[in-house]
Amino acid sequence: MAIKKKSEKISASTDAITSSLKETRVFAPPREFAKNAHIKSPAQYQKLWEQSVKKPEVFWGKQAKENLEWIKPFKKVLQWKAPFAKWFTGGKLNASANCIDRHVTAGLGNKAALIWEGEPGDSRTLTYQDLLRETSKCANALKALGVTPGDRVAIYMPLIPETVIAMLACARVGAMHCVVFGGFSSEALADRINDCGASVVITADGGYRKGAVVALKQNVDVAIERCPSVSHVLVVRRTGTLVTMQPARDHWWGEFLGRMSSHCPPYEADSEHPLFLLYTSGSTGKPKGILHTTGGYLLGAALSAKIVFDLKPSDTFWCTADAGWVTGHSYLAYGPLANGATIVMYEGAPNHPDWGRLWSIVEKHRVSILYTAPTAIRACLRAGDSWPAKHDLSSLRLLGSVGEPINPEAWMWYHEVIGGGRCPIVDTWWQTETGSIMISPLPGAIPQVPGSATKPFFGVFPDIVDKNGKPVPAGSGGFLVIRKPWPSMLRTIWGDDERYKQQYWSQVPGVYFTGDGARRDKKGNIWIMGRIDDVLNVSGHRLSTMEVESALVSHKLVAEAAVVGRPDELKGEGIVAFVTLQVGFSASDALRDELKKHVAVQIGALARPDDIRFADALPKTRSGKIMRRLLRDVAAGRNSNQDTSTLEDLSVVAALRADSED
Ligand code: WTA
Repeated sequence: MAIKKKSEKISASTDAITSSLKETRVFAPPREFAKNAHIKSPAQYQKLWEQSVKKPEVFWGKQAKENLEWIKPFKKVLQWKAPFAKWFTGGKLNASANCIDRHVTAGLGNKAALIWEGEPGDSRTLTYQDLLRETSKCANALKALGVTPGDRVAIYMPLIPETVIAMLACARVGAMHCVVFGGFSSEALADRINDCGASVVITADGGYRKGAVVALKQNVDVAIERCPSVSHVLVVRRTGTLVTMQPARDHWWGEFLGRMSSHCPPYEADSEHPLFLLYTSGSTGKPKGILHTTGGYLLGAALSAKIVFDLKPSDTFWCTADAGWVTGHSYLAYGPLANGATIVMYEGAPNHPDWGRLWSIVEKHRVSILYTAPTAIRACLRAGDSWPAKHDLSSLRLLGSVGEPINPEAWMWYHEVIGGGRCPIVDTWWQTETGSIMISPLPGAIPQVPGSATKPFFGVFPDIVDKNGKPVPAGSGGFLVIRKPWPSMLRTIWGDDERYKQQYWSQVPGVYFTGDGARRDKKGNIWIMGRIDDVLNVSGHRLSTMEVESALVSHKLVAEAAVVGRPDELKGEGIVAFVTLQVGFSASDALRDELKKHVAVQIGALARPDDIRFADALPKTRSGKIMRRLLRDVAAGRNSNQDTSTLEDLSVVAALRADSED
């Protein structure tokens, strides 16, 4: 069928949000799918949703009992002293026991828990029994390295089974994991380790990416030169690359775990015991350590995995996210494993050795649910239909999307070419802070509209408001907020309760501020319109403009930098940097390349600017504020209708427009 492009124009600002997206196609859940789904009809959804928000404590109390295994039952469902929540107080449980032990006890020990494929084509399958043994050994290894409940363990790994094992082992001993994406630089790693004060780092000698080896251990060595809290490093041998091992500090995973017992009783964690920290970008330069705790987080991940992905014991679930992002926490590891599902994990790049790789994995492992990001879908769309056509994709029954709004063209391609027209698509909106999916169609119950995340999940009470906190009428854009606490919400920003209060609960007093713009159409479907603050969304990953700016300014020749996003067909947003140099230095292509490299070294390759423009000055208001909205228009090559009456020097803009790379 023909795929038609719909025009999409979104412009967001803090004062007014306008949307002219017009999408009218609706895809009802296929009858067969609905018949067997956990939630089968719009009426069933509506009834349960209303119950869940009218009496949240009754709803969540019941779900917590049904979906999790408690060592000690909880006494109270919610203690809410805004904006600080405590869920399931008095209860004790262990997240790793919920993800592994209870399935082994239930007789599923020989079921495949994790099917892994390495980039070079090697593969391993771990049963639930295997996962229990390896996790227990790793847990004992952590104890032997002095890790105690509440300690932080940094995980800087390729996407290999040991990554999930390490996360579960931390949970087993009550330590918090802090997974840092393997694509981040040693600088970014060191900043995160220092912020959380990790005592142990778990890494590998390297990982494969596009046929090359990523030197993870080497990055760790550089990073921890300035991390006094780290006393031990556990290193998985993955690539056989030569690495330096510092005696007494560094230990090989294989040898060290080989000496450990394969029995480790799970730590009896209070429901509010911290489970992990995950760093994400906010609108200031310093990444925030988002804190999630045990009972609430695990319930959110487990219940949403079950209902949104309609998870059944026979499913093979592949979430393509890296463990370094929240999607990798909730839907690669905790959510599906808590449900006793079989997960698929792939180490490498989607185009290695060619663009058929994803589809060959689906065929080989008979994947039934695929959860990926719009940026990957667009890249595959561009590579062409001939790649998926070479493979049998008939095992797929459900598709998911996450990380950024999915444009209708990519949605239709995903639906037709990958899903063969028969698989519902769940466009899931959520955030590192929310811990689990908040807005998404339920695949057997809610009609899907390409480009809309549609309806709130159970227990989630979203609203769209203006800057005074007043709900806006249907069809108008506004700020997306969540009115009631939910179990998997972040508890705070690590070490900074004030920033937590201020960033999330103060913009509109007493409600959670998401930082996203949205609108609701007449049918009640929610359309996410992107960030309204200075956060970029590059390939579905969050980066703050200020983070990139401070990386640029740390270069000795740079005087000042302003960074904005511009629409990018593949990545969603591309990064454009406007730079002024120190007096006496002049711009050149060599310097442009050097600055791009400098940012990649400071933060990681994903932050590398697509375009750097030099100028003698940046456009500022008379009060000295950089006019970002104007720069956004310049970056996108648009004529600007921004009010320039407050601009100090108009010629600056003309100069910036002239210095374009392409
Ligand atoms: C964006 C990723 C539109 C949004 C799980 C959010 C989305 C940010 C969607 C969180 C979606 C995520 N449609 N936008 N389905 N999913 N976003 O913390 O701007 O890495 O605030 O969590 O991604 O990114 P994060």
